[in-house]
Amino acid sequence: MLFDSHAHIDDEKFAMEQDNIVARALANEVTGIINVGACMESSRRSLELSRKYPQVYAAVGIHPHDAKEAKRKDYEQLALWAAEPKVVAIGEIGLDYYYDFSPRDVQEVVFVRQLEVARQCNKPVIIHDRDAHQDTMHILKHEGKGVCGVLHCFSGSLEMAKELMKMGFYISFGGPITFKNSVKLKEIACQVPLDRLLVETDSPYLTPHPYRGKRNEPAYVRIVAEEIARLRNMDLTELARITSDNVRKLFRIPPVGN
Ligand code: NI
Repeated sequence: MLFDSHAHIDDEKFAMEQDNIVARALANEVTGIINVGACMESSRRSLELSRKYPQVYAAVGIHPHDAKEAKRKDYEQLALWAAEPKVVAIGEIGLDYYYDFSPRDVQEVVFVRQLEVARQCNKPVIIHDRDAHQDTMHILKHEGKGVCGVLHCFSGSLEMAKELMKMGFYISFGGPITFKNSVKLKEIACQVPLDRLLVETDSPYLTPHPYRGKRNEPAYVRIVAEEIARLRNMDLTELARITSDNVRKLFRIPPVGN
């Protein structure tokens, strides 16, 4: 069984197709999905999906793209949602200097504020970092004390991965690991200890090879896991079991049947 640790099946690209998406995931032995919020509206939709589907868990948070829309009362709402039984994390939060959709100083304030929410609610965080490795590490080190979580769709160096793991973080890989030119990423995916490794799709984005260019979906987390298993010269079943156990441990999700 596999666990997609990061998906956005509430996205409009999936408009009302969630029944099929979840069914196709199950047909591919993807028995768990964390649906990750990116704004207040999608966080609310994540919560709704987690109530509707037994396999779906929710993360709630404000993405750096939407940081400029964040209001003071939003943090209170995030904390309220975090008390719901199937809300397992605050995310995705962080910095995005590639698109710069929100001013960088605003991204930083909203990131730090949500690290505080996570600390107060005792929830792990799901971190988005695009072209902002240095500032992400700086903020996590100085403002993230007592908070653990995952660096989603990791794109940093091995040194950065090691530093994060020292801080108790997990490292998650998605579709880009399957791209031919991701040489460095493939190396890092072999170096991360198995007990710190997660797999994800970030669907509908970052579709793995050979479906690149098409819409991504949680069923394809199998392709990501297959590639990492191939790189590490191990069984898919074993990698699937370990990464699913990691998700359950980090996000405190009880095993199936409990
Ligand atoms: Ni995402």
